Amino acid sequence: MPIDTFEITEDEINRLTVLPRAEDPVAFVIFGASGDLTHRKLIPGLYNLACANLLPKGFAVIGYAVTPMDDESFRAAMLDAVKNSNEAGPFRQDIWDDFAASLHYITADFSQSDGYNLLKKRLDEMMVDHHCAENRLFYLATLPSFYTEIVKNLMKHGLNTVTDNTAWSRIIIEKPFGHNLESAIALNKVIHQAFEEEQIYRIDHYLGKETVQNILAFRFANSIIEPIWNRRYVDHIQITAGETLGVEHRGNYYEEAGCLRDMFQNHLIQLMSLVAMDPPVRYGSQSVRDRKTDVLKAIMPINPENLAEVAVRGQYGMGYIESQQVAAYREEPDVSPTSHTETFAALKLTVDNWRWADVPFYLRSGKRMPKKLTQIAIQFKRVPHLFFHMGPKDQIEPNILTIRIQPNEGISIRFGAKAPGPEMHIRQVEMNFTYAETFGVTPATAYETLLLDSMSGDPTLFNRADAVELSWALLAPVIETWQATRQFTAFPNYSAGTWGPATADKLLAKDGRVWFNG
Ligand code: BG6
Repeated sequence: MPIDTFEITEDEINRLTVLPRAEDPVAFVIFGASGDLTHRKLIPGLYNLACANLLPKGFAVIGYAVTPMDDESFRAAMLDAVKNSNEAGPFRQDIWDDFAASLHYITADFSQSDGYNLLKKRLDEMMVDHHCAENRLFYLATLPSFYTEIVKNLMKHGLNTVTDNTAWSRIIIEKPFGHNLESAIALNKVIHQAFEEEQIYRIDHYLGKETVQNILAFRFANSIIEPIWNRRYVDHIQITAGETLGVEHRGNYYEEAGCLRDMFQNHLIQLMSLVAMDPPVRYGSQSVRDRKTDVLKAIMPINPENLAEVAVRGQYGMGYIESQQVAAYREEPDVSPTSHTETFAALKLTVDNWRWADVPFYLRSGKRMPKKLTQIAIQFKRVPHLFFHMGPKDQIEPNILTIRIQPNEGISIRFGAKAPGPEMHIRQVEMNFTYAETFGVTPATAYETLLLDSMSGDPTLFNRADAVELSWALLAPVIETWQATRQFTAFPNYSAGTWGPATADKLLAKDGRVWFNG
């Protein structure tokens, strides 16, 4: 949405003021500052925080990238980014002027000492010019292949440490965190040489979504939910993350990644751990993340021998999204015409613990689905005994509780009710909560929440090293087996605009279940 200058609305203020302000001054260093993420998410997110007066008093951004720019041209590029962003709030010239004055840029290579020496100098200047103290936040928004080099250089130039013992330094790392288990372990090792675990913020933007955080509120701030949240009452759980988008301009990245690495290793496994975890002792980074990690440890390892029983892969062919014809994956830019990369995956997982033994968790995600739909559906068991005189007009179905992550954020529960009339007939009805109707505000975007948390020093919503490694370990048998058998894929095997290959439906059908498509 292009944005013109107009007044900030009260809603907009409310939307953001639910977040607490970051107190400590900080210099925010963005590696890869000329890239897509900086334009689409980071600068619009920081600008929104500025609009809501949530940035600390002493604040500066130092962009660092190879694309030649100076402070002025960086500011001009970021102004465009904010004005063209869907996520930035209404444009306010006065706020922009202040914010823009805090933006700086260094043109440098990630491998050259000169760049880091210059960065050191600029950081010293920021302490005087913008009162940033010695606090530093490094954001790695580059291609992942540069992560190790940047961290090693920060260490080599002493930028990972601070001299003032009241100051801090932290590092935020974008996904993908590694390409497989071995590379994730190696990356953790390098980063741990430079930073302590509590200084490391591995970002998964799903964890910043309001509706994802609400999973914990819904489960643990209500006494009626927890008693039924287990194998005695739950039949199975479905987690869906479907998108209408294809790979857009990210063919190069996606060819290497595929759906499992792109969506499962991080977002879907995170959603699953929030749904399945036990209550933490307190809302704190250690407690919450310990309980999530327990889930990952309890997921039954996937046996590559019978992978076809529990895993499905797909790739879209040509099809229609909202009546518009769209190209097959193999015809997208930067994609091989014989690509075997999966754009859809579905998995059946089980959690081997007291709470969830024998309850299947079905996870699926795909590009070019008929609609954007991210949701968690919990299907409860059927009633044990039916004493109604059932007729063809009766609908007696299991209860389904749906947590809609996006769009139409909210929660609904389906249940049977007596249809009006002199006879006893049962109909399925729905109770529905939507964020927009109830709170009348749009929740803060995920990046705002996470940027603010990283400045405030709260890593609860970020991934810990052990969770990242466990999640790679869980998926390793699938990734490796699929890689080894890639030539046998009969791709494309679903049309754009459908819910994936027929085998995904069969995965549930053989257990007597069906996918819920919203
Ligand atoms: C990203 C993936 O992490 O998440 C993308 O790399 C995907 O491929 C995106 O489109 C989905 O995020 P959201 O917030 O739109 O569901």
